[in-house]
Amino acid sequence: MSASVAETIAECRAAVTAARRAGHRIGFVPTMGALHEGHLSLVDRAREAAGFVVLSIFVNPLQFGPKEDFAAYPRDLERDRRLAGERGAALVFAPSVTEMYPSPFVTRVTMREATEEFEGAARPGHFDGVLTVVAKLFLIVQPDVAVFGQKDAQQAAAVRRLVIDLDFPIEIIVASTVREADGLACSSRNGFLSEDERRKARGLHLALTRARELADGGETDARRIEAAMREVLARVPALHVEYAAIVDRDHFQPVERIEGPAVAAVAARVGKTRLIDNVVLEADGP
Ligand code: PAF
Repeated sequence: MSASVAETIAECRAAVTAARRAGHRIGFVPTMGALHEGHLSLVDRAREAAGFVVLSIFVNPLQFGPKEDFAAYPRDLERDRRLAGERGAALVFAPSVTEMYPSPFVTRVTMREATEEFEGAARPGHFDGVLTVVAKLFLIVQPDVAVFGQKDAQQAAAVRRLVIDLDFPIEIIVASTVREADGLACSSRNGFLSEDERRKARGLHLALTRARELADGGETDARRIEAAMREVLARVPALHVEYAAIVDRDHFQPVERIEGPAVAAVAARVGKTRLIDNVVLEADGP
């Protein structure tokens, strides 16, 4: 069954208000569409926590740099609406750019620390765009619980921080990464990879598997684990590695030793496609 669609903020608010009056908790899964199993697993998590699940589909121009793939980003509302509905989302909120950002739109949510390195350094302005739209979506949907994917680990850390710093009364769940049969993390960008590039992209997963093996074996020295990841990545010369790092899960700052929840994070380009992936290195992580 397809989910209902709200294209305006007013329609979305009215549907959520009606669901709340009917006694439902509201779950929220923000996406940019092109739904795959990773997104749908977030809907599953939201369904476990709430009776009425809203999934937003909005390709957010604020989080794309001028040379990034905003125009090429895949869009298929009918397909996404069907998939979201079949998985139990009750409402798809799919606003236009002008609905979200009527001109002039000059406000930005910015954050220090968690957003400065790694994806923040590679994609200037990206996290301002993400946090601005997430704050807006939180205020529109007003969910009890929102589900984000561990695949975008730095984004998850930044959203957790946003909710704490700005007192959003929302529980944040970070759900485990869903992987394809070859280990590649599900991503809307995997569709851009040729067969050959896809084989090479497996290098990210292999490097992270090595990191996990070392950490599980008791290695806590972050530099040693990073060196081992780089060694695995170097076996695939076509991979242009941007970073391979051990960071603390909550602040996304590099660590010397793994003493609490940590993340091994990798970013690399294969051809024209930029891929990111990570694994949590402590048992109490998501
Ligand atoms: O992870 C994404 O798809 C996006 O960054 C999000 C959270 C939907 C904000 O546009």
